[in-house]
This record gives sequence, structure tokens and C-alpha cells, in this order.
Amino acid sequence: MQKSFGSDNHSGVDPRIMAALTEANTGHVPGYGGDFLTQSAADCFKSHFGVQCEVFFVFNGTGANVLSIQACCQSYQAVISSTDAHIHTDECGAAEKFTGCKILAVPTADSKIYPTDILKLTQNIMDRHHVQPRLVSLTQATELGLVYSPQELLELTTTAKRQGLLVHMDGARLSNAAAHLGCSLRELTTDVGIDILSFGGTKNGLMHGEAVVVLNPALVKNVHYFQKQALQLPSKMRFISAQFLAYLKQNIWYDNALHANSMAALIAKKLAALPMIKIVHPVACNEVFVSVPEHVYRPLQDKWHFYVWDHDQHIVRLVTSFDTTAQEVEQFVDDVGVLIRG
Ligand SMILES: Cc1ncc(COP(=O)(O)O)c(C=O)c1O
Repeated sequence: MQKSFGSDNHSGVDPRIMAALTEANTGHVPGYGGDFLTQSAADCFKSHFGVQCEVFFVFNGTGANVLSIQACCQSYQAVISSTDAHIHTDECGAAEKFTGCKILAVPTADSKIYPTDILKLTQNIMDRHHVQPRLVSLTQATELGLVYSPQELLELTTTAKRQGLLVHMDGARLSNAAAHLGCSLRELTTDVGIDILSFGGTKNGLMHGEAVVVLNPALVKNVHYFQKQALQLPSKMRFISAQFLAYLKQNIWYDNALHANSMAALIAKKLAALPMIKIVHPVACNEVFVSVPEHVYRPLQDKWHFYVWDHDQHIVRLVTSFDTTAQEVEQFVDDVGVLIRG
């Protein structure tokens, strides 16, 4: 079966996750998280993120983000994010629709937000004619596959807290960032003052399901109730819990992310050696942004699936997955080489 570089969502399910699902598929257990697997998974999250954390399993990443924002903000409040943020560009306005909160998107060249952005946007605080910034939402790894270091995160959360703001992390690819930085999950979240996290799994080997990890105990009560209102309370919760339990306990989160990252590094290294090709952003995680001439990428799309990120500048996005192989990378780069040589 031909692999795709379109998205890490295009991959299948890690066989170890499939085995965990099969194992969970026995007998009758209470629904909505009242089962033993959900309890075990919650304990496992505590061992990774700290004992104060509470985890809530949800259906998808957009839902995790909406629920996180809802837990932090009233409708007259606002969320500061980058213009590249998934909540701003790729969730069809779900956060605005379900929370009523405005997103204040900061223009960004590198998909990150910085403490100065927070300071600029919190000048009119207390003026009732303006929405009141209440939450900073950052994405780790970012939508361009870049990472915030623990120091950068600490500087962001310190500034946010000084301005009376909470901090949400969209961690759809937090595992990739942690594998790249050689950090634990805790070092990139709890230890640097993140209040609430959308923790991804689907892009890294799970079948479905994401987790809202509440690190600030004051927010737990809100999530407890909003989860149901936000249509994100799975009745057969055990089938998401079982996946996350295996994911964390068997180190799948780390092994898969490290592998996907290494495949992206390999693609970048090999493509960079070809003429007419330019890697446009540093490659940290499992996404590679490449400038490729149109006469090369168009026929290449007949054989390989990937997305054109910027049609004007001929930039394509290549995403590797936990099951991308070095042979597939070689084949892809060979095909690019053939098209370049004409
Ligand atoms: C950074 C980021 N956040 C959130 C999501 C949303 O995930 P879902 O498609 O499960 O709603 C995605 C999905 O591509 C993503 O890339």
C-alpha cells in the first residue's frame, strides 16, 4: 500500500494499540470513564505529568481544544494565538462558535508567539469596549513543525501569568516535540506552568481519541461539566483509555515520535542535496516544508500524496508518520530527482 506524506493522520493504527483495543474488548464495564482501564490510564497520566493532573479523554483534537478554551474563558474573554494556530486556521471557527470567545491571532513568521505579543495585546485590559484576553494558546510542536524550548515556554507562561492570563498548549504533536528536545512530557508542560493541555495520540499511532490534561486544579470542575456539554464525553470511554494506557506505559508515544522525526530529518537531508530544492524551515519534528518547482511537484503528486502549503511560493508540506520507512523516503527522493533531471 502506497504511503502518504500528506499528514500523520493518514497512517493506520500501531499494532500495539490495536492489541490494547482487542484486549479491552471483553466483558461489560461501566461507561463514561467509570471503568478500570480509565482509572489505570488516569494514574499513568499522573506518573507522567504529576499527581495533580486530571485527564479527560475526548473524541478528537478540535474537541480537546474547544473544551480547554471553554474551561478557561467566559465569552467576553479572548484567546491569544498565532495566525498559524490550528484553532485559528483549521477548526472552522469551532472555538469561536462553542465558546463565544474571540481569537486574537498574532501575525507570525515562524508559527510561534512571543512574550512581547502577549504584552502588546494586554494593554487594553479592563476596558469594557474590548474583549478581555484571558488565555494564551500555543502549539507544541508548532504548525510548521518547530518547537518551543522549555526556557521559551517558561518565559511565555511567566509573562502570561503576570498579565493575569492562563496558558493552553495544543499538544497534538507534543510527543514529537519531546522526542526532538529529549525532554519528558512533564518538563514541557507541568514544570513550565502550562495550565491545560490538549494531548494528541491519533497522529502518532492511536486509532482515535485525544486527552485534555488539566494541570491547573482550579480548572478541573469546569472540564468535568463542559466535557458533556461540548459533546466530548465518550460513553465507551474504555476504548480511548486503553489506547492511551498502552501509549504511555509501553513508551509508544516516544518511540513512534522519535521514528517519525528521524524520517523527516532523512527526507530533509536527502532533498537538500538535490538542485532546485530548498528546505524552508528548520526541521525539528515530523514535518518538512520544501520549496519545489511546480513542474516537479505537479507530476510527483500523481504518485505521492502530499499537500501544497503555499501555491504562490511553491512550498509543499511533507509529513512523516510512525510507520514511514527509510525505503519509502529513498523512493520519494529518487522520484523527485528523476523529475528534476527531466
Ligand atoms: C496542531 C493541531 N491541533 C489540533 C488538530 C485537530 O485534530 P482533529 O482533526 O482530531 O480535530 C490538528 C489536526 O490536524 C493539529 O494539527
